[in-house]
Amino acid sequence: MPLVTTTEMFKKAYEGGYAIGAFNVNNMEIVQAITEAAKEEQAPLILQVSAGARKYAKHGYLVHLVQAAIEDTDLPIALHLDHGADFEVCKSCIDGGFSSVMIDGSHHSFEDNIELTKKVVEYAHAHGVVVEGELGTLAGIEDDVKVESGNEQFTKPEEVEEFVTRTGVDSLAIAIGTSHGAYKFKPGQTPRLRFDILEEVSKRLPNFPIVLHGASSVPQEFVKLVNQYGGAMPDAIGIPEEMLRQAATMAVCKINIDSDLRLAMTAAIRKHMVEHPDHFDPRQYLSPARDAIREMVRHKIVDVLGCNGKA
Ligand code: G3H
Ligand code: 13P
Ligand code: ZN
Repeated sequence: MPLVTTTEMFKKAYEGGYAIGAFNVNNMEIVQAITEAAKEEQAPLILQVSAGARKYAKHGYLVHLVQAAIEDTDLPIALHLDHGADFEVCKSCIDGGFSSVMIDGSHHSFEDNIELTKKVVEYAHAHGVVVEGELGTLAGIEDDVKVESGNEQFTKPEEVEEFVTRTGVDSLAIAIGTSHGAYKFKPGQTPRLRFDILEEVSKRLPNFPIVLHGASSVPQEFVKLVNQYGGAMPDAIGIPEEMLRQAATMAVCKINIDSDLRLAMTAAIRKHMVEHPDHFDPRQYLSPARDAIREMVRHKIVDVLGCNGKA
């Protein structure tokens, strides 16, 4: 099976009341771990690549790793650019074999966001590639842009119809209180998502796929493991999984998860290093790291996204 776009996956996910996991990939072990979990659970999959990942691993390596994942599994897999900052990076990924790109114009004015997103959509659609746009800004760090907590802006539902109509985007990322990274809420703060905004957006955009970024849950047992084995992570609080499950039954068709995979990988490597101080073959510590990511992804697919058996 060749790479697929997200069109068919999102249509089925919307109708079926579940969401597809979009997991960030940076190296071979991460691609393999996610793909193994999706294969075991027969789940459709979005593998996404940030500008930082392209810089770290190089475009061609990542495209070929994802190609290998498709050959290995025969699953419907989309290769997506995460947080494309400008037309050039989107064009480079469209020309370079991706089936989906995000143009993140959320830091621009409404009009500039529309202009930029429309330009990407025209180029992408002419090449059979789908586009995710964004309205509203999340707190946290993505690539080198940091938005302080308190400076995030929830999506304004009254803007979504005009944005989607004028740009022609295929899906829309919205800001309802999720944020990037491991520190989403302060200790003592009660996690809260603006389901009212999601509800209002989906009323205005019937049958239209919505995307949630910043959706890691930051499981406490992994933070504890990191710290137990020499780490020093401050109190980290993520999005409660039952909230994500609820969003998945609504108009949310794509849920982005990266930090939880990083956490699982780092915890496993720290534990291994402490328990086996004599090991120096990278395969010895990357194997448990890969296993940990696989189990994290399996858990997300089955218990959070509900896309198991939907490939
Ligand atoms: O939203 C950001 C993703 O977690 C990717 O992070 O830019 O550090 O690769 P990155
Ligand atoms: P997390 O940092 O919550 O995993 O979010 C990842 C993300 O939104 C990638 O685009
Ligand atoms: Zn994101």
